[in-house]
Amino acid sequence: MSNLQDKAKLLIDGKEIDLNVYTGVEGERAVDVTSLHKDHGLTTYDPSLGNTAICRSSITYIDGERGVLRYRGIPIEQFDRPNPNFIEVAWALIFGRLPDKDELAQFSDMLTEHELLHEGLRSQFQSLPVDAPPMAILSAMIGMMSCYHKEFLFFEDEATLMEAAARVISKVRTIAAFTHRRASGLPFIYPDPSLRYCANFLHMMFSIPYRQYEVAPEIEDALNLVFILHADHEQNCSANAVRVVCSAQANLFASCSAGVNALWGPLHGGANVKVMEMLERIHKGGMRPEDCLEAAKDKTNPFRLFGFGHRVYRNYDPRAKILKTACDRVFDKLKLSDPLLDVARKLEEKALKDPYFVDRKLYPNVDFYSGILLRAMGIPTDMFTVMFAIGRLPGWIAQWKEQHFAEGAKIMRPRQLYVGNPKTDYIEMEMR
Ligand code: ACO
Repeated sequence: MSNLQDKAKLLIDGKEIDLNVYTGVEGERAVDVTSLHKDHGLTTYDPSLGNTAICRSSITYIDGERGVLRYRGIPIEQFDRPNPNFIEVAWALIFGRLPDKDELAQFSDMLTEHELLHEGLRSQFQSLPVDAPPMAILSAMIGMMSCYHKEFLFFEDEATLMEAAARVISKVRTIAAFTHRRASGLPFIYPDPSLRYCANFLHMMFSIPYRQYEVAPEIEDALNLVFILHADHEQNCSANAVRVVCSAQANLFASCSAGVNALWGPLHGGANVKVMEMLERIHKGGMRPEDCLEAAKDKTNPFRLFGFGHRVYRNYDPRAKILKTACDRVFDKLKLSDPLLDVARKLEEKALKDPYFVDRKLYPNVDFYSGILLRAMGIPTDMFTVMFAIGRLPGWIAQWKEQHFAEGAKIMRPRQLYVGNPKTDYIEMEMR
């Protein structure tokens, strides 16, 4: 709960305006400007919402200065061990606390029950172009769930939310695996109810009809970790998209589909693909790490050092730290090697010594090392952002739930500073 503890004064046109100040549980303070327009005709200017708290949330906490990330209060580092699984993290994000044994078993059973796609949905999937971008397919398919699961378009209770959440979390991995299989000209592999969430996904991705893919425990654990690390990140671009759509009382599927579209962008989840393209280019000799840094620093060049920088972190992204160590661990255990891992390490080292990146406090973010780990699992690069989306889905559902059930929640509708023409008359065509 954030508490009202203080007042701030705004001095404008010789007039003093009292504003409430709220303090979050970790001491962060926010000035309440909601009455400024109604009472004083003033608005606040904050392009890109860089410094606006759009809600009260108890899902995820980030301290960007110190590189801290917690889900429901639990430090992210505590999930970096074999026991926690993605499904219990998903449950905790959505329902507010870690599930007990029965709750987890019940939710896992629901996921198993709903892993197949409705036949109508599957035939819609077949009509999409084989070479369509996987994120376009994913957003379309999640959106189309509104056509085949109409019982979840309107609800006001948690039990129905759990049913809807189980369907979308389960089916998203079937959709992702089918997308890869079809693009590769391979037959669909149906889910195996005896397998756990991550192993089942790998089975659908890589088994062949006459040979079941054997999931190495290290790979299953690594995928589990990747999904957990991506599961939520408070008010990021895609979570914000989900909340905005939800605030109009749009349904869960429509809102999550919007989240997929936001995530697709290269400045957000799409950066994991851009990172691999950049590392490949350096590896193949098309660019030296120094050229890459120079291009990223050049303000006339749209190129960025992908996988670096963050709106909130002014420190090493804790997820990147965990992923970097996980790469070392998995590569070592499975006796793997990948030249791109060496390229990434060198590029990071150079960037962290370069005054441009040092002065701006730009560090590796979650996307810098995640692709290397996904590549080690055999996931093709064009599926990387889809993998991010599978991981992020519980976070979107948790944000949707918090927004949908928030007391006094209103439609989100920011204002603007109009800088266009003043009142102008229409000019007849022949007079222009
Ligand atoms: N390469 C080069 N310059 C950068 C980078 C980068 N990766 N990131 C930030 N900067 C520069 C900005 O241009 C700005 O420079 P200036 O002060 O000279 O104008 C300065 O660093 C500060 O930038 P921020 O205000 O911190 O950046 P912003 O919050 O607008 O953008 C973003 C954050 C989009 C993540 C940016 O860092 C970026 O483009 N990174 C590369 C793409 C990427 O990796 N995205 C994934 C982010 S994590 C996620 O969404 C899952």
